Amino acid sequence: MKAEVRAAVARARAAGHRIAVVPTMGYLHEGHLSLVDRARSRASWIVLSIFVNPIQFGPGEDLTRYPRDLKRDLELAEARGADLVFAPAVSEMYPDGDPAVVVAPERLGDRLCGAFRPGHFRGVLTVVTKLFEIVRPDVAVFGQKDFQQAVLIRRLVRDLDMDVAIEVAPIVRERDGLAMSSRNVYLTREEREQAQALFLALSMARTRFHQGRTRADELLAEMRAALESRPLVRLQYLEIVDPETLQPVAQVSAGAVVAVAAFLGGTRLIDNMVLD
Ligand code: PAF
Repeated sequence: MKAEVRAAVARARAAGHRIAVVPTMGYLHEGHLSLVDRARSRASWIVLSIFVNPIQFGPGEDLTRYPRDLKRDLELAEARGADLVFAPAVSEMYPDGDPAVVVAPERLGDRLCGAFRPGHFRGVLTVVTKLFEIVRPDVAVFGQKDFQQAVLIRRLVRDLDMDVAIEVAPIVRERDGLAMSSRNVYLTREEREQAQALFLALSMARTRFHQGRTRADELLAEMRAALESRPLVRLQYLEIVDPETLQPVAQVSAGAVVAVAAFLGGTRLIDNMVLD
């Protein structure tokens, strides 16, 4: 399969195509499909990968129950215009089991999600590096919902001199504002209702910022109070950070990012908003 992908990409490139890759873990929704649209605006031949990458899941996380539906994914990817779907088996990506050599972040990987999911970004950067090696794309498209991931992937290509342009596409939301995620299917009806609180809190921070409020502690306190009024929302982190260093800011200026992670029951959701 890897060899077939390399051969198909080589043919497309020889035919003059510009190649894009859209890495996903499948169970595709409109958020993923919007990445295909973005890829189409930057390239003429699109590879969509579907791989639930075991090495980015920690012990006790949802690797085994992560939702999967390859048949439906293939239909959706094709209908949206992906030219090739690469859906390797775990044994193809990791033939020797855990890899002996990995790509790991330095301190940027310890903040936000990284503080609660040790090893997660090491798994992400390793599999993304492998996908880049297999596909050799001109451009790769990721979603802004995984904000820290997008920051780390930009640093991956910059710091390791990879010749791949990184595109980050905006968050696609449900009608009530909840960020689309494959994990939303885990939510009960009550959890699903209260999950909207994440988007409402982020939106409130943006409104306050537009009203001229720039003290991060004040914005955070107001957001925290709103989130705590929803009994099913268990906050993991809520921060306003610099978009490059991921360090918390005290005074908010344009471009800062509010990032949140929370559990609703056993489901961990993340969301973020740029204050601009
Ligand atoms: O964002 C995701 O779905 C995954 O982290 C990625 C980038 C496909 C790597 O497994």
